[in-house]
Amino acid sequence: MATKAKKAPAKKTLRFGYFDDANKEYVLTTPATPIKWCNYVGTMEFGGIVDTTGGSLICKGDPALNRITKYIAQMPSSDFKASTIYIRVKNGKGYKVFSPFVTPTLTKMDKWECHIGLSYSRWIAEVDGLRVQVTIFVPTKSHTLLQDIQVTNLGGAAKEVDIIPVYEFSHFEAEKQLTNADWVPQTMTLKAHPEKDGHLVLEQYAYMKRDYAVNYVTADGKVSSFEGDRRVFLGMNEMGSWISPLSLENKEFSNSECDRGDNVAALMIHAGKISAKKTFRTCTQLGQEQSVKAAAPAIKKYRDLKNVDKAFAELADFWAEYLQAIQVNTPDASFNSMVNVHNPRQCHTTKNWSRYLSLYQLGYGTSRGIGYRDSSQDLLGVMSHMPEEALELTKNLLSVQRPEGNAMHQYLPGRLASDSGDEANEGDSREKAADGYYNWYGDDHLWIVLTVAGYLKETGKLDFLKEQIPFYEKGKTRAERKKGTVLDHLQRSLKFTREHLGQHGLPLLGFADWNDTMNLAPGAESTFNASLYGKALLEMMAICEATGDKANLDLYKVWYKDVKDALNKNTWDGQWWTRWFDKDGVGYGSSKQKYGKIHCNGQSWPVISGLADGERAKKALDSVNKYLNTSNGIKLSWPGYKGFDPQVGGISTYPPGAKENGGIFLHANPWVMIAETIIGRGDLAFEYYNQINPAAKNTKLEEFESEPYCYPQNILGDEHKMFGMGRNAWLSGTSSWTYQAATQYILGIRANFDGLVVDPCIPTNWKGFEATRRFRGATYQITVKNPKGICKGVEKMVVDGKEIDSNVAPIFTKGVHSVEVTLG
Ligand code: GLC
Repeated sequence: MATKAKKAPAKKTLRFGYFDDANKEYVLTTPATPIKWCNYVGTMEFGGIVDTTGGSLICKGDPALNRITKYIAQMPSSDFKASTIYIRVKNGKGYKVFSPFVTPTLTKMDKWECHIGLSYSRWIAEVDGLRVQVTIFVPTKSHTLLQDIQVTNLGGAAKEVDIIPVYEFSHFEAEKQLTNADWVPQTMTLKAHPEKDGHLVLEQYAYMKRDYAVNYVTADGKVSSFEGDRRVFLGMNEMGSWISPLSLENKEFSNSECDRGDNVAALMIHAGKISAKKTFRTCTQLGQEQSVKAAAPAIKKYRDLKNVDKAFAELADFWAEYLQAIQVNTPDASFNSMVNVHNPRQCHTTKNWSRYLSLYQLGYGTSRGIGYRDSSQDLLGVMSHMPEEALELTKNLLSVQRPEGNAMHQYLPGRLASDSGDEANEGDSREKAADGYYNWYGDDHLWIVLTVAGYLKETGKLDFLKEQIPFYEKGKTRAERKKGTVLDHLQRSLKFTREHLGQHGLPLLGFADWNDTMNLAPGAESTFNASLYGKALLEMMAICEATGDKANLDLYKVWYKDVKDALNKNTWDGQWWTRWFDKDGVGYGSSKQKYGKIHCNGQSWPVISGLADGERAKKALDSVNKYLNTSNGIKLSWPGYKGFDPQVGGISTYPPGAKENGGIFLHANPWVMIAETIIGRGDLAFEYYNQINPAAKNTKLEEFESEPYCYPQNILGDEHKMFGMGRNAWLSGTSSWTYQAATQYILGIRANFDGLVVDPCIPTNWKGFEATRRFRGATYQITVKNPKGICKGVEKMVVDGKEIDSNVAPIFTKGVHSVEVTLG
């Protein structure tokens, strides 16, 4: 008799939280995330990171040069990190103390939620019949971090409650705080400014900033006492701990100012007896101004809780307006949620912080800054939402391009306005330049051509091309530097590449191309740079057409043909394109190599740039599918190097399957999606989209580990034991490019010089979709129908009831217009 096969026990799906689409939030229900997750508040002008257990890393302007709070990311999740709130409840003769953030008291909660919202985080914590709600945000255009705290007695006897918010300050020069324990503590100062009515402002600065940049902490209501010295706050010469600060055992603090050492701002706020169903509310402010006096208007404003509510509503208005640029309704709910909310939100974050400040890129020293290539690409993700803000950053980037045409790899925003001539640097290439390596990257300067073209297509403001912008000349003041029009800047970019070709007629690699970790000796060529150059030439030709510049159009056509011929003649490996040639002509990313035989960007970019001849486009993308695709995304290369090889450099410092060495480097995934839509394979493009959608990983978080509400930079590939694990959340080019892939290529809605193109490439099982797109002052309500179940091909476009002869909806500049598209 056959025995019944035993069923394998169902694998428990551990969920950490859920998406609340109506409120545009992710609601985290446990603080014990696999790794620290976070949110961003404010902008780079004032703001930073707030993690899910209340730690906050706040800066004004440049994170390396003007840091406010001391957040040490490497410490365990349970440790205090720069900010918390203690709630103290009278309990007989003593107190029960807990933090609504869990960290650092580690109290077990009856209920705990952290709502990760659009530029705000809100906690709801319940302990012993008390409910604490905390909302942290930076009002738009302000330099203040608000912390709106509401404590409710859920029932029963009245409870006597104290609220103790605490911040710990950093030296403004963030790296010094970690590396200098002599000068830094001698300069750190905290002073109290009590006011007659019981209000209090604590002022903090490093001595040299006393007269022009001071931090302050205050609250709307009365503060009965404070501590400013960490030793006093923790107690017993810091044998007291953040879990249980000894100063909290006394009714009042000792009012310690701090003339040196570790500065904290701990405020004692007595909520008094809160009776059943009643709520006590208070709001703290953390800011930086020239002086406490200069901060007075802001302090006054946010001491009025009505203004706090108003500021919160204005923040919501900002986001509603921002997101309204593109809203979609497709048959796929998780696609809608990413495209309508989380992805454009992440694009706003990368636009602000480039790769400068995250829980992975810690914003210390001059090792980072605003990356030239990174931000150029990030800007393409916000161009339809905030083109004028994008323009400001575009101009900054152009101002660190060298007169020779190539660009500095990065700049420090905090030094940009200075006349010191040292605001920009050459990134990692500086260190190797002494060994004869180039101190320039072969790709940086080319990206900006795409960015400027993106701005021009979105806004139609061609006059920008005539604006004068200085070039970067190290050591020279701004007035001394050469200047050129924006058009001149772009032309010099292309000319630099045209004049730096290698033995196969392909652009030189420089220190590196997009792939920072492949640093071949000088003389090496990059086929990625060839494609990026091709794409930049296409964009430039479109600009020439828009401005009627026939002479340059003809010139760039010749340059384009030359690079196309060079690529097609020299780099085809049989099944895919070779990725690099070293100075001796040896191919890397070639089947002849033992490791790194095939590289993803080598296959997608010849299609994106239109350089790939005939069948090779499809063949190379088939090879991507065959050798690089996994269920968690497309790997950057295969197979991974199995040990350090100084010949190839950085790539081989990673174990196989990690980061650039055969990891799933997400940034490169949307380029394959885009390439697939160009050759018309909408099903595959959408499959690639879905397999990296972080929202879809909300049920796989034990494996993925990273935040499900934003793209991480990398996922470990299948050569690694921890296949599927994501790292480096938030600040990644994945955000901008996946957003472009989804909106401009899968949905196919993109701005052009002559109108709004609608050219979808969708899955065959979609019956259609709807979208609303703001474009040059008008709103386009787009409906796409797919009666024949195809991927691509517009049969008919009807605009405001009239059929038109193309798939480009005209420029209207105002009003609401209907665009009906039928595929066929
Ligand atoms: C990192 C860098 C980016 C580079 C990529 C690939 O994301 O910020 O500039 O292109 O790695 O190496």
